[in-house]
Amino acid sequence: MRVVQRGFGRPADVLSLEASAPDVLHPGQLRVQVEAAPILPMDHLRVRGLYPLAQETPGVPGSVGVGRVLEGPDPWLGSRVVLPMRSGSWASERVVPVDGTLRLTHEVDPVAASLLRVNGLTAQALLDGLDRGSWVAMNAATGGVGTFVLALARRMGVNVVAVARREEALEGLREAGAALALVDDDGWPEAARQALGEPVHRALDGVGGASTERLGALLADGGRIVSFGAMSRESPRVRVSDGVYRGVLLQGFWLNRLDRMRGDFETGRILNRMVELGIEGRVDSTWALDDLHAALERDRSPERRGRVVLVPGTVWS
Ligand SMILES: NC(=O)c1ccc[n+]([C@@H]2O[C@H](COP(=O)([O-])OP(=O)(O)OC[C@H]3O[C@@H](n4cnc5c(N)ncnc54)[C@H](OP(=O)(O)O)[C@@H]3O)[C@@H](O)[C@H]2O)c1
Repeated sequence: MRVVQRGFGRPADVLSLEASAPDVLHPGQLRVQVEAAPILPMDHLRVRGLYPLAQETPGVPGSVGVGRVLEGPDPWLGSRVVLPMRSGSWASERVVPVDGTLRLTHEVDPVAASLLRVNGLTAQALLDGLDRGSWVAMNAATGGVGTFVLALARRMGVNVVAVARREEALEGLREAGAALALVDDDGWPEAARQALGEPVHRALDGVGGASTERLGALLADGGRIVSFGAMSRESPRVRVSDGVYRGVLLQGFWLNRLDRMRGDFETGRILNRMVELGIEGRVDSTWALDDLHAALERDRSPERRGRVVLVPGTVWS
């Protein structure tokens, strides 16, 4: 079984679950039984045709997946692997190139491992180079990336100022290790500055718009905002008083560019290190492929807490 996307638009209009004959396996390829495939913000964008790396149509959506190699050369056969990015993970079985496939070297729950490829590796890159005892601020702290930022920062001894749009999320952020958790309103940068008494040199922005401005207002002179997402659908912006007079920088980050620069070996090494250290994200719920539309609905629900993950091996019909 596989989800097939025909055209771009609302999921109900362009996605259907279809039975399929097994794909032919060629040299340099692996047949993988997909065990877990998270639904990511980029998947919604690709279904609607709004992501820079377009979904092929007709084609199988699903940017990230983890599974077991059913057919392929040694040492891959029987291994648990992370599928290459955007290889169509919303299916019970996929034939994928060896290039871009990452072998998981430790025994790990496939659902937990499926969160690492995008959310985990993005968080790791966003924190890269920060010293123990330093401070970082971030918005969208309750999200998939934010959850990994908190888990990794705790491990690295980096202090996080976490902001979220919901008051009721703050207690959970503190429990997850945030040194300071605040609602993302106009007053928070000043409140944080007074509470910290320490300079913050890096801020991580997954929201854009006025939320980016507020991160910039907290930063020390010459500090850097790393923009990785725009959940508000607004471009990030920096106030003239921060950007011009205080040298606050705005820099973009895209995991796709980093993947290309560092290659599969290094990407796999870092991902496996996170498994080894027990760095985990948060799973909201798991769904069989048959329940795709309910899973997509859940993913858009304000009640969602963590990642919604498809478990394609479980098809009930
Ligand atoms: N550049 C890259 O390489 C890269 C890699 C990974 C992700 N991303 C992007 O980063 C962003 C976050 O990804 P994610 O996986 O963490 O997403 P996620 O798990 O779906 O979480 C979304 C987060 O954004 C918040 N949010 C949603 N709508 C918002 C709005 N209108 N205003 C303010 N906050 C809002 C949510 O807060 P609530 O808890 O209040 O709902 C939650 O914290 C997405 O845009 C994604 O595409 C980029």
